[in-house]
Amino acid sequence: MEDLTGKQFGPYRIIAPLGEGGMAAVYKAFQPGVDRFVALKVLPQHYAKDPQFVDRFEREAKVLAKLQHPHILPVHDFGEADGGYTYIVMPFIESGDLASLMSQRPLTLAEIGRIIEQIGDALDYAHTQGIIHRDVKPSNILIDSRGNCLLTDFGLAKLVAGVSNLTSTGIIVGTPSYMSPEQGMGQALDGRTDIYALGIILYEMVTGQVPFRAETPMAIVVKHIQDPLPPPSKVDATIPEAIERVILKALAKQPEDRYATPGDMVKALQAAIQASASSPPPANVAPATRYTRINQKTKLESASSKTPALSPASASAVVPQASSGQMMLWAGLSLALVAVIGLAVLGVWWFGRSRQAVQTPPLPAQEQQSTVERKQLELPQASPTLPPTSVPTPQPQPTPPPAQPAQSQPASQPASDQPPLPPPQALEACRGAATGAACTANLPQGAVTGTCQTPPGQQQLACIPAGGPPPGP
Ligand SMILES: Nc1ncnc2c1ncn2[C@@H]1O[C@H](COP(=O)(O)OP(=O)(O)OP(=O)(O)O)[C@@H](O)[C@H]1O
Ligand SMILES: [Mg+2]
Repeated sequence: MEDLTGKQFGPYRIIAPLGEGGMAAVYKAFQPGVDRFVALKVLPQHYAKDPQFVDRFEREAKVLAKLQHPHILPVHDFGEADGGYTYIVMPFIESGDLASLMSQRPLTLAEIGRIIEQIGDALDYAHTQGIIHRDVKPSNILIDSRGNCLLTDFGLAKLVAGVSNLTSTGIIVGTPSYMSPEQGMGQALDGRTDIYALGIILYEMVTGQVPFRAETPMAIVVKHIQDPLPPPSKVDATIPEAIERVILKALAKQPEDRYATPGDMVKALQAAIQASASSPPPANVAPATRYTRINQKTKLESASSKTPALSPASASAVVPQASSGQMMLWAGLSLALVAVIGLAVLGVWWFGRSRQAVQTPPLPAQEQQSTVERKQLELPQASPTLPPTSVPTPQPQPTPPPAQPAQSQPASQPASDQPPLPPPQALEACRGAATGAACTANLPQGAVTGTCQTPPGQQQLACIPAGGPPPGP
């Protein structure tokens, strides 16, 4: 998103950018009327062009503004500014967030207990108000100057995605590393999806790494759904058993096997911390290694990473035996994966042909796909790098599948030619947008309006005018 520094949004003067996440950019701003600094979360312009979004934005913002809890960052105000920007106004928190704290130093068990207690309490409150967060993660936990946690971005994921988590356009919204299996499968969610995310944060604070890592966001989602949890004690043998039990329960694959409420998880963790304070670490492990993994960077590792696998005995604590309901889920998942893989193979073929024809560097979207913290996953964009245990992994082929090429080309393409890459302006116009959203691409030959769609074989939404694809770059 362009730098909005110096712009006036209603009574707020934008002073400096604070950071940019997957959905929006955050700015420090000044409100002279009350002589205070605030943080402005500004959503990209294309959202405001969708009347349904504006409607939903106002409805949801009003609900979120009613949430009042000492550990939920309040919403001061919201509005729309000239140029088609929608924004949310929050208190400005100078000191940082849990993600940066974790990268600086190991946390003590007492600190970990306090963080889980405060965020668990905030979630408990929100759930009783009928609100699920859906994107609990360290960068959404701000920490004020007194060390208190403030949960932010409540419900924003839902706001951007639409009414359901998996919209009819196939977009899953959330952050793969913290996403519950049911969220990854696009099922109906309840508060237990937030308990799972809180469990991942607890795992990360205790071991210094998230449990599931892979090369692509989709591969991470699949691991959450089907891979046994690598036990924390395999990462660090000094982790007390009682604390490991809390993590295993919070991260059960089936929501009904988790804690019923965040409050229950908080109580269990407090009891575990008390119990472990009175029991010394195993004699064969140097105490200096205890919890010091927190500083390790949670680097991306390939699907063949050396993450220790769960032993069969403890696996049963995490992965319940398949029930008929579970089998149905697997059937649904398999169908989805088969569809994804089919499209991915088509995409690889298309991309291979495009590269032969046009000597261009890889698209930025393809680089983005290899980051863990990608915000929106469009199922048809999934990389074919899926774990081999889900369905047979297709080998990317530079040659076309037999019956598909003619269908995969837009009607306006010459039959024998490769489809062109969309121009960068057409990609930019749809950055972060939902499939089907109205868009305007400022092409060199003039502005073109249309809707955001994924061109055949492409990995990113592009602004496609009503009559067909935009001219090539
Ligand atoms: N109220 C605030 N005060 C100060 N800094 C903030 C505030 N809200 C967010 N930030 C900072 O702005 C940056 C961007 O936040 P943003 O929420 O857009 O990204 P994110 O949390 O990484 O991703 P996501 O879009 O998934 O929430 C983060 O580094 C965050 O710490
Ligand atoms: Mg955030």
